[in-house]
Amino acid sequence: MKLRQLTAFLFLFGCAPCDSTGEVEPVEPSSAGAVLSLLPAENAPAASEVERGRALITRYECNRCHQIANVEPPPLERNCMGCHRAAIDGEPIEFAEFGIEIENASEAGARIDHLLATPNLVQMAPRFRFEWLRDFLAEPADLRPHLSASMPRLGLTESDAAAIASALLFDSVQGDRGDRFELRRDAAGIASGEALFEQYRCGRCHAFAEPASEPENRLARLAPDLRWTRERYRHGTLIRWIQRPESIVPNTQMPNHGLTEEQSRQLAQYILFAELSPPVAAEPPPLLELLERPVSYSEVSEAVFSDTCRHCHSDPAFAFGEGGPGNTGGFGFEPRRLDLSSYEGVQSGLLIDGRRASAFRDVDGMPLLIRALRARQLEEAGQFDPNVRGMPLGHPAVNAERLQLVRTWVAQGRPRE
Ligand code: HEC
Ligand code: HEC
Ligand code: HEC
Ligand code: HEC
Repeated sequence: MKLRQLTAFLFLFGCAPCDSTGEVEPVEPSSAGAVLSLLPAENAPAASEVERGRALITRYECNRCHQIANVEPPPLERNCMGCHRAAIDGEPIEFAEFGIEIENASEAGARIDHLLATPNLVQMAPRFRFEWLRDFLAEPADLRPHLSASMPRLGLTESDAAAIASALLFDSVQGDRGDRFELRRDAAGIASGEALFEQYRCGRCHAFAEPASEPENRLARLAPDLRWTRERYRHGTLIRWIQRPESIVPNTQMPNHGLTEEQSRQLAQYILFAELSPPVAAEPPPLLELLERPVSYSEVSEAVFSDTCRHCHSDPAFAFGEGGPGNTGGFGFEPRRLDLSSYEGVQSGLLIDGRRASAFRDVDGMPLLIRALRARQLEEAGQFDPNVRGMPLGHPAVNAERLQLVRTWVAQGRPRE
């Protein structure tokens, strides 16, 4: 059967460039009209909305972690992903220049596990739906079970998220009329797709009906859980993606499996329409009893503050004055002046509404810093606290034992020795 016969040609998109018969006119990838026809009518953005989105991408510094169409990478001292990749590739970086003390660069490279790989934000328009993109930016969820970092909860309003989504789609347009249709459920296709999914062992990189298993290689890191694909992806692009992913994102880590179009269509049927049981909600780790033994600052620093926090809450003089987004500001956040790189820094607190305050001030019965750590544990279990942003921002939560260590230290009066 031909693809055309199986697809309902529901045109989802705005009619800005439509003629009177409702057909969408062929479009040139680079023309502005092309973009409007790729976005839903009610959201067809004005040029000013796209401009606003671009300015917000600059303001929120999305390029510190992502490759983005038409956006230059930041200088190395602000380039979280670029510097980590350079370090792990063994590029000769003078880390001392940035205030980073490293004895052996390749060993340090081997220690880095975060922001080495992040999804590439090029070629968004053919792949992603506007609504999904907007909602994800406003409230990010974990998409990739094998990736330790996640998209941070930034301070975006819904209107900012919509403008950014418009700009991301607008600036990465690929005019392709074949992408603008919806597939219809087809039971035989789903069954064949399931068999192909087994045969080609797609599950060795992707979680889907089965939760993520141990990945066989690092290529799996960027592989999304395919249960979200039905909300994210355009149907036509999905078929093309499964067959020839490199024709959409040239440097993608998704392999070409040499599938026929028919097989790709069947796999798309399976991914879009297979019945899935709801995702299993993770349990947040327990709050352990406080330790009986004394806990010193150096122990807490080694396990928590220097291990992760310091990378965003550095000394203000670090890296040409780049004290990290949690200290000198960044990712759209105002400077909060929280320095977690030294005892004095930790003790001197942070700015709250422009005033110095203790990082251990009580917030609903819990010291602020502890509450932020707990909030991240809860975020990983899918529970969001609207009042406190989980820390470490966008990075794996500290485990139950480490939180117990910090809580004990705070309860003991935060001793230095
Ligand atoms: C601190 C690093 C960081 C910053 C800053 C950041 N992101 Fe992300 N982003 C990530 C990571 C890590 C993921 C992967 C999350 C996952 O798959 O669970 C991600 C995922 C995404 C995705 C999903 C793409 C896909 O293929 O699944 C989009 C879209 C995105 N980010 C857009 C943005 C935008 C827009 C901004 C700026 C407003 C931004 N990000 C800022 C780290 C970052
Ligand atoms: C100038 C280079 C450079 C920049 C810029 C940089 N890092 Fe790093 N980062 C490193 C190096 C080198 C290490 C490993 C050595 C260490 O642990 O100190 C590291 C380690 C880390 C770690 C702890 C190691 C781990 O995998 O748990 C985190 C978290 C981290 N960086 C986050 C960030 C974030 C977030 C940004 C952007 C705000 C950033 N880094 C910017 C060089 C950099
Ligand atoms: C070696 C690991 C690997 C294997 C095997 C693999 N994939 Fe992927 N897949 C990836 C990666 C990595 C991405 C993300 C690519 C990107 O964003 O550039 C991806 C992306 C996808 C996407 C887009 C999903 C989304 O929501 O963004 C689909 C659909 C997909 N793969 C289907 C399949 C199917 C079907 C198979 C089996 C025929 C398969 N993959 C096998 C690594 C793999
Ligand atoms: C990826 C960067 C990043 C990492 C890693 C990180 N932070 Fe933050 N942190 C920030 C940013 C940005 C802010 C400011 C957020 C805001 O103003 O809403 C912040 C704010 C805070 C606040 C104030 C929260 C509030 O609601 O007022 C606390 C407390 C905090 N961080 C603690 C920590 C601790 C403890 C760690 C390590 C476990 C950590 N952070 C790791 C980026 C980071």
